[in-house]
Amino acid sequence: MDNNKRPDSMERITTKELADAFIAEQIDLVKKQVGNKKVLLALSGGVDSSVVAALLIKAIGKQLVCVHVNHGLMRKGESEQVIEVFQNQLDANLIYIDATDRFLDLLAGVAEPEKKRKIIGGEFIKVFDEEAGKLEGISFLAQGTIYPDILESDGVKAHHNVGGLPEDMQFELVEPVKLLYKDEVRVVGKALGLPSSMVDRQPFPGPGLGVRCLGAITRDRLNALREADAILREEFDNAGLNKTVWQYFIAVPDMKSVGVKDSKRYEGWPAIIRAVNTTDAMSATIEEIPYSILNKITARITAEVEGINRVLYDLTPKPVGTIEWE
Ligand code: XMP
Repeated sequence: MDNNKRPDSMERITTKELADAFIAEQIDLVKKQVGNKKVLLALSGGVDSSVVAALLIKAIGKQLVCVHVNHGLMRKGESEQVIEVFQNQLDANLIYIDATDRFLDLLAGVAEPEKKRKIIGGEFIKVFDEEAGKLEGISFLAQGTIYPDILESDGVKAHHNVGGLPEDMQFELVEPVKLLYKDEVRVVGKALGLPSSMVDRQPFPGPGLGVRCLGAITRDRLNALREADAILREEFDNAGLNKTVWQYFIAVPDMKSVGVKDSKRYEGWPAIIRAVNTTDAMSATIEEIPYSILNKITARITAEVEGINRVLYDLTPKPVGTIEWE
């Protein structure tokens, strides 16, 4: 039997009951596979790795070692949430590595998008590898592979998996959600008790804010981007747009314009809002955001975020524009 093929008879997991049955079955399978050995997991805080972590904590508790690498390109509050949920609430064996300086030092002065991606992906593997090397007695590597990853593993999206790990790692894989579609992973995550802010998260690229802080990343512009993005997310939440818009974020280009703040000349960067709807991310349409909400977001970002003096709304569908700016 092909272990990577979803059986035709497998029912779509849409309810808590079906999720609970799936969880019970996987706990058994994982326990059988792992025995009393240790399992390592790169926990990004994204939906898939979070659900795998919660499932494995249920199955094997402290035999699971989670490593969260903060590359300094996370959205506001994300690494903090990983620590709060997994370390404080679920009592996981969590190793937190703040590698912000390593990543930002390497990225300094690098403007070319693909080069930035390569640096971020390569450094992620290096940091994770170093950490894994310090641990003893690890026999398994857990991964948040989901069914679309298997269906799409034809190389087209290889660059999308920044969490990709070194090929020469000599571990047996534990991939409990590899036959599930994304919506099923979310249902399972909820049944495991993970917060909605984690389970219903919109897609976030592996290189994180690195591909939204356009051109060569600087700490001050990255910080402005992170704060502006947090305001956008908060206002979308308040307006219920988080339920209708597929992906929304801010990009900040490496250019300044003249403005006025506190009656003085103020040169700042523009914050560009992107809010798109799509089913498969291959094409995307623009969400019509009510003017009053755009006005409120503009007022808040320009008043609250140091370094930003304009807010723009990107009206370009995909194609011609890609969803991300880089
Ligand atoms: P584009 O910009 O290609 O984005 O229209 C399509 C979807 O893919 C996400 N994306 C990425 N995800 N690593 C990722 O993990 C990447 O390098 C990357 N680039 C784009 C993007 O956020 C959108 O959802």
